[in-house]
Amino acid sequence: MAARMTPAAIAPPAVRITDLTKVYDDGTRALDRLSLEIPAGSFFGLLGPNGAGKSTLIRALCGLVRVSDPDSRIEVFGCDARADVVRARGLVGLSPQDPNLDRFLTVRETLTYHGGYFGMGRHQAREKADELIDAFDLRAKANTRTPRLSGGMKRRLLLARAFMHDPPLLVLDEPTAGVDVELRMELHDYIRGLHASGRTILLTTHYLEEAEALCDDIALIQHGRIAMRGTPDDLKLEHGAETVEDLYLQVIGR
Ligand SMILES: Nc1ncnc2c1ncn2[C@@H]1O[C@H](COP(=O)(O)OP(=O)(O)OP(=O)(O)O)[C@@H](O)[C@H]1O
Ligand SMILES: [Mg+2]
Repeated sequence: MAARMTPAAIAPPAVRITDLTKVYDDGTRALDRLSLEIPAGSFFGLLGPNGAGKSTLIRALCGLVRVSDPDSRIEVFGCDARADVVRARGLVGLSPQDPNLDRFLTVRETLTYHGGYFGMGRHQAREKADELIDAFDLRAKANTRTPRLSGGMKRRLLLARAFMHDPPLLVLDEPTAGVDVELRMELHDYIRGLHASGRTILLTTHYLEEAEALCDDIALIQHGRIAMRGTPDDLKLEHGAETVEDLYLQVIGR
């Protein structure tokens, strides 16, 4: 009998990357013909050692680096991210690894300006900014300029900014690096909630227990290529590993 076509089965994947190569100007080959598909609705963990190519992949996905090979393809929910950068970028909320906050803006301005860039009206942007300021416990700093925030507060603001225009795909590059335990748990709950309400999440982290707890699909990247891909349970079974950390050490093991 033919498989029943569910909406999920016919919807384009959140991300489809085909043969992506990135060689930086100094000759560093950060991505080497990498292909990866992330189904819509998944909570996807992109894992791998320092320098593996995770952030480069994310920057390519968001149109922030020039792709080296003209035949590389990047699609976000079926939208060609190289041909239609603006539309594709609107589908993604990015929390970058390096805090790139504007030093002249306050917390509230950071959020409302971002809303403006992504087509939100002034009133709508203010309302959403207020909601996120409360959700991320930034109320006391709402009118503080970003250089005066602590490291963890900057992280929170980066996340709030990523959620501002309510995109269907959230790309979180080490969102919990340097965040205290309590806040990390709150962030996990918040991100889980977004996932439960239908958003696709692409997360990178070096906290493997975080990936274990959150992700339903993972890929390990090494030297700019996918070294392993699957659900944590399937991969653990296949490799006789107890945890994602065991799995990681087996595959990446130095
Ligand atoms: N602007 C750049 N110019 C030259 N090389 C770069 C640049 N950005 C990154 N690289 C190199 O590309 C490779 C991949 O870096 P990338 O930042 O993608 O790794 P990553 O997997 O995100 O690592 P980490 O876990 O440390 O964040 C590394 O060798 C890095 O030094
Ligand atoms: Mg990185």
